[in-house]
Amino acid sequence: MSVAYVSVQWNRQKRLYDSVLVGGVAVYLALFGALTKWRFPFVTDEIMLMRAFGTAAFLLLHVILCIGPLCRLNSRFLPLLYNRRHAGVTMFVLGLLHAVLVVATYHAGGNVNPFLSIFVSSPVNGSVSGMPFQPFGFFALVILFLMAATSHDFWLANLSAPVWKSLHMLVYFAYALLVLHVTFGALQGETSPVYAGIMALGLALVLGLHLVAGYRERAKDHEPVPATVPRQDSPQEILAGEGFVDACAVADIPENRARIVCLSGERVAIFKYEGKISAVSNVCQHQNGPLGEGKIVFGCITCPWHGYQYQPETGASPPPFVEKVPTFNVRVLAGRVWVDSRPNPPGTRAEPGLCAPAPEAKT
Ligand code: HEM
Ligand code: FES
Repeated sequence: MSVAYVSVQWNRQKRLYDSVLVGGVAVYLALFGALTKWRFPFVTDEIMLMRAFGTAAFLLLHVILCIGPLCRLNSRFLPLLYNRRHAGVTMFVLGLLHAVLVVATYHAGGNVNPFLSIFVSSPVNGSVSGMPFQPFGFFALVILFLMAATSHDFWLANLSAPVWKSLHMLVYFAYALLVLHVTFGALQGETSPVYAGIMALGLALVLGLHLVAGYRERAKDHEPVPATVPRQDSPQEILAGEGFVDACAVADIPENRARIVCLSGERVAIFKYEGKISAVSNVCQHQNGPLGEGKIVFGCITCPWHGYQYQPETGASPPPFVEKVPTFNVRVLAGRVWVDSRPNPPGTRAEPGLCAPAPEAKT
């Protein structure tokens, strides 16, 4: 969370995450090196390292891309998401080391500028195996650089959430470029189908997880909101006439938690706490985390992804922080929660609906 920008300090979880990340990469590089030396003793050290860094970066990119949908499918994966940006920067550094070794080994020895050489060293000749694959790697690296350079919350605060998010969605474009880079590059020289199989498996995993998670989210959005048939001029009918929608039963919402419903195409998180019901947009201002999957901690809605907080009645972060999400007007009637499907401007106070307080409220 930021006033303008406030740095988040190191904590035990971050250290653990980074130790596992660096340890995992080190083990992979050591194994790759040992296996290459054993199976292909004629391969030079530079080429072995170039391949080790390239494949480590590509593999880590697969892990990074799978974390998002996995978290949507099962909240037990959330700890992986917490510092995903450190994994992203590590992946960029590995990709950069690979590229530096490639340029030093293949492009720096001639009389053509090494960077130009990336583009002109293998001219298009019409055959699949002769396809110039290195520019794909170059452009992917440029995207990964932009993402790594702006990954800090400082840039998130200064670029604004939507711009930052759009920039970081380019990771999918970088992934597509790298699939082409490897398909038209390394795979063309391979006679064994194993390598192509591994890459197809990785692609299927990334695509499959995104499709399943997307399908599940869509199915949730289209869950029918139970329709009550109001009597003529009943309070329910009056509420419906004012634009309120019967969203769920009070009893459906666990204490200090939320139920997410989709109203007029927008996801709304309806929270129950201390005998009150408040509704806010489900989209966190930080990185679009699902607020309705978080809980109320010390009176504030707390995003499950990185812990940004919002007051349930106003949708505003507690001072001195400045983030705000839209609120929704709420009424509680006969044990059911009615929510106005038109959002209030971010940070607008909405009177909470009242319900019976839980016998023992837990945070
Ligand atoms: C300027 C950017 C890049 C250039 C010029 C480049 C060039 C190359 C070359 C020449 C090869 C074949 C190496 C060989 O086996 O002889 C290769 C392979 C590969 N590259 Fe890149 N690459 C670049 C960026 C990247 C990036 C950013 C990644 C991943 C994040 C990547 C991943 C791979 C992988 C997985 C392979 C196959 C394994 C290997 O043979 O090293 N490349 N690249
Ligand atoms: S998305 Fe990061 S705190 Fe909500």
